[in-house]
Parts: sequence; C-alpha cells; structure tokens
Amino acid sequence: MNRSLVTIADHTREKIEYLVDMASEFEKHPNRRLLEGRVVATLFFEPSTRTRLSFETAANRLGARVIGFADPKVTSGTKGETLKDTIMMVSNYADIIVMRHYLEGAARYASEVAPVPIVNAGDGANQHPSQTMLDIYSIYKTQGTLDNLNIYMVGDLKYGRTVHSLLMAMRHFNPTFHFIAPDELAMPEYYKLYCKEHGIRYVEHKDFDANTIADADILYMTRVQRERFSDLVEYERVKDSYLLKRNMLSRAKDNLKILHPLPRVNEIEYSIDETPYAYYFQQAGNGLFARQALICDALGITLEEVKNDNTIIY
Ligand code: CP
Repeated sequence: MNRSLVTIADHTREKIEYLVDMASEFEKHPNRRLLEGRVVATLFFEPSTRTRLSFETAANRLGARVIGFADPKVTSGTKGETLKDTIMMVSNYADIIVMRHYLEGAARYASEVAPVPIVNAGDGANQHPSQTMLDIYSIYKTQGTLDNLNIYMVGDLKYGRTVHSLLMAMRHFNPTFHFIAPDELAMPEYYKLYCKEHGIRYVEHKDFDANTIADADILYMTRVQRERFSDLVEYERVKDSYLLKRNMLSRAKDNLKILHPLPRVNEIEYSIDETPYAYYFQQAGNGLFARQALICDALGITLEEVKNDNTIIY
C-alpha cells in the first residue's frame, strides 16, 4: 500500500475526521518517543518557513531524526542529478520524505518512484495538502464543526495552492464558497467545474467590503504569489488588489475567523492582529499537530496507537 499524501482529494470525510482526531491527540501531548529510531527527510526545492520548520518540529517532538535541505543549490541537483535519482537516494536513508517542489505533479511523480511514503509539502500552484489539514483542524477548533460553513477565499485564487486543496477537502462538508479575486487571479475553471461536479455552491464577487463578507464564518486571505508570475508588470498591477482593513469587519459575525496560510505581505492590516477575528498565527501553530498526525499516518501508525501511546514525555 502506498501511504503517500499527494493530494487531499484522495481522502474521504472519515479519513479527514480521523486525522483531525489524531491532531487533537498530539495537541494534548506533542512530546513523545513514538518515532524513535525513524528518520524523516525534508527536501525543499522551494523556500519555506512554516511548512518545513513545523514538519521538522513535528518529527523532532516525536523522537525522530531529521535530514534534508532547505535550499536545492546545496545538492547534487546542481550537477544534473534528476528528481528520480534524488528521491531514490534519499529513500536509502529515510523512512519518509516530505517534499516541496516548484513543479506541479512533482509529488505525484515522486510517490510513484519512491519506496518510502512521500508527503507533498506543496507542488507549484497545484496542491498543499498538509496545509489543508492544519486549515481544517483550525476551522474545526474555531467553529466546532466542519459542516455548512460560509467560506470566503480572497486574493490569488489562481496560483494559491492552499485554496485549491482546501476547496477539494471541504467537498465532504457542504460548504458555500465565496471567491473574491481580480479577473487575472480568479479561481481556475478546473476548480469551479470540480465544485459543480460535487454539488458545492460557490459565488464569485468583485467587491470586497463589510457588506460582502458580513455572513462569513471563515475569511481565508491569500498572498499574491509573485514567484508564479512570468510577467512582473502584471504582478505589480494586481499585487495590492485586496487588503483587509479593520473597518471592513464592522458587520462580521461573532464566530468569524480570519485565516491566512502566511506569509502575509499586504493582505491584512496589522491592526486586525489584535481583534478576536485574527487566527492566522494560531493556525500556523496548529500545523505542528496536524503534521505530527500526517507523518504518523504515512508511517502506518494508527489513531488507536497514538491514543494508547505510553511514550509521552510530560
Ligand atoms: N503556508 C506555507 O506554506 O508557508 P511556508 O511557505 O512558509 O512554508
């Protein structure tokens, strides 16, 4: 059985809820020796702060050792080694590979050639399933449910892999999506078709103001992905399209939470950080527990084993 995590679309509702339960167990007790003797490799062909460090913290707090690189310039890829050969080599050393790559489909390819599980830590503008697990865990913690929520996605919906993954995962939970983006960065037709095929309601907006977002449960802000633009003039034109200002929260529901995968550039006014609606830093913190669950699941460790684990360090 291939235990790789390439796309969250492979997961059923039951599997997502199972992983939420496992993340919650890790939040109670993040420090354990459950992975003692295991080696986790983190191969980051693209820059990262949160994803790499939270995966590495997740592994370290469970007693695993971590190898890898944060910059492909220090690897033999610069001498011409292929992705396949790199993956085959690292599989000799590690029990699991967490990989971020700039090419869409790289994680799928790696999972097909690797003898060890691959966890997709982001492949181009395609998918970011581990981010989605922490997003879902954050939504569950703040809303008390995953069902029947109004989820507003704002900003770069074209290149933002986090919104693509979240959209697919939420198909099990009867959401209503609202897409707010400039024309150049609109949600791709592929994902709108996906919504239609799965009976997911969505509304597209151009306005971004207090009235438009008044019934939001989740406001998912995103950064314009500069690194995906071939034309930087176009980036300059759209980069500040949607800035969330504090006065736009005047009609917000009490349960509203603002999420952002981060890094933030110019999407959320800093004064919002002090409001009860801001949840993006806690969201990133939840990444530790969600990624502990994902590593364990990929290594075949069950929720039952986590619950009965007697290696907890108090
Ligand atoms: N959310 C996210 O993927 O952040 P990093 O790029 O810092 O890993």
